[in-house]
Parts: sequence; structure tokens; C-alpha cells
Amino acid sequence: MSERLYLYPIWIRLWHWTNAILCLVLIISGVSLQYSNPEYPIIRFDIAVTMHNIAGILLTLSYFVFVIGNAFTPNGKYYKTQIKGLFESLKKQAVYYTVGIFTHAEKPYPVTKDRKFNPLQKVSYLVAMYFFLPLIFITGWGLLFPETNLTNVFGISGLHLTALLHGIIGFFISVFMFVHIYFCTIGTTTWSNFKSMIDGWH
Ligand code: HEM
Repeated sequence: MSERLYLYPIWIRLWHWTNAILCLVLIISGVSLQYSNPEYPIIRFDIAVTMHNIAGILLTLSYFVFVIGNAFTPNGKYYKTQIKGLFESLKKQAVYYTVGIFTHAEKPYPVTKDRKFNPLQKVSYLVAMYFFLPLIFITGWGLLFPETNLTNVFGISGLHLTALLHGIIGFFISVFMFVHIYFCTIGTTTWSNFKSMIDGWH
């Protein structure tokens, strides 16, 4: 049996599940606001607005828990990435996911005390957390306070551009979440990664 490693400290687990629930609430209320027929909304419009606003504010606060936590605890080291050799390592991991896994090849980047994430996981978490999340809440706050937007950007309303960007990033975060959950099922067993994010042990 392989060694048991304590890789998910309590603060990251609490942050993670808070973040996951908030993202779900934001996606469901956001889809309702954007797409449903006002006559038959998925969620009543005023309720969806309140849900979306409150969850967005809480998501911003929880984001700072993640950033500050990673800046001041050892968990931050798992996100440090070297550009040199990155492409090669991403390719190796992609080949494992598409071929190696089916031929029972050895994992190219097994989990150790010093390496919690494989290169694809690491890059996807970096992009989600340090690119998509800041963009979604900055544009969200821009929509909450419309007067902060530029009135005219090359003839287009700044508010419309902010709304467009907010919708596009929201779509990417939804895709990330689906793909993320799918890849989390590729552990020692289907549920082992989910269990790790609950009890902290890999
Ligand atoms: C219901 C939704 C979600 C489920 C079931 C889920 C599940 C998991 C699981 C099982 C892990 C541990 C395995 C691993 O480290 O890869 C994990 C880690 C992680 N998830 Fe999620 N996740 C969800 C939503 C999200 C969302 C919405 C985000 C970001 C926008 C996110 C970001 C992360 C990050 C950054 C980690 C690594 C945390 C660390 O250990 O430093 N997850 N997730």
C-alpha cells in the first residue's frame, strides 16, 4: 500500500467547498438571469439577482482567503511553476490521460509530499484561480457599480463590454468546473480524490 499523505489542510478544504458551492449558486442564478424567459424564469428574477449578488460578494472574500493562505502557508509551493520544460511535462501528462491510463502505464507525475498536482492540474488551477476568478469578480463588481465603467470604448458602451466579458468568463469557469470534476474522478478509485478533499488525506 502507498504512503498516506496529508495534503489538504483544513483551511484549503473549507475554502474549496465554500468556493465550489458559491460557484454553483453563481452559475445557476447567472444562467437564470441570462437565459430564462422572464414569464417563466428558472428562478424568479429578483431572487436570482439577490442570490447572484450575495454569492459574488462572498466569492470575492473567499478568493482572498485562497490567495493569502497560499502566500503564507506551505500550500503555496504546490502552485510554483517553472516555464522551462513546462510544455514537455504537459504533453507527457496529456499522453498519459489519453493513452497511458488505458494501457496501465506508470503515472508520469505520481503524487508525493512535494508534488500534489500533476502539470495539467497545476496549470488548470493556476489559470482558474489567478486569471478567471479575478476577472469574474472584477467584472462582477463593475456590473454592481455601473458608474465605475467607461462610458465609451471605441464607440461601444463600457458597461456592455464588461457584461460581455463577465458572461464569457462565467462560461469558461462553468466548463472548468465540469472538466475539473471529471478529472477528479481519475484517482486511485473514482471517489478517492473527493474523499481527500473531505478528510485531507491522499
Ligand atoms: C462541485 C464542484 C467541485 C468539486 C466536486 C471539486 C472537487 C475537487 C477535488 C476532489 C479536489 C482534490 C483533487 C485535486 O487536488 O485535484 C479539488 C481540488 C481543487 N479544486 Fe475543486 N471541485 C469543485 C469546484 C471547484 C471550483 C469551482 C474551483 C475553482 C473555480 C475549484 C478549484 C480547485 C482547486 C484550486 C483545487 C486544488 C486546491 C489545493 O489543494 O490547493 N474546484 N476539487
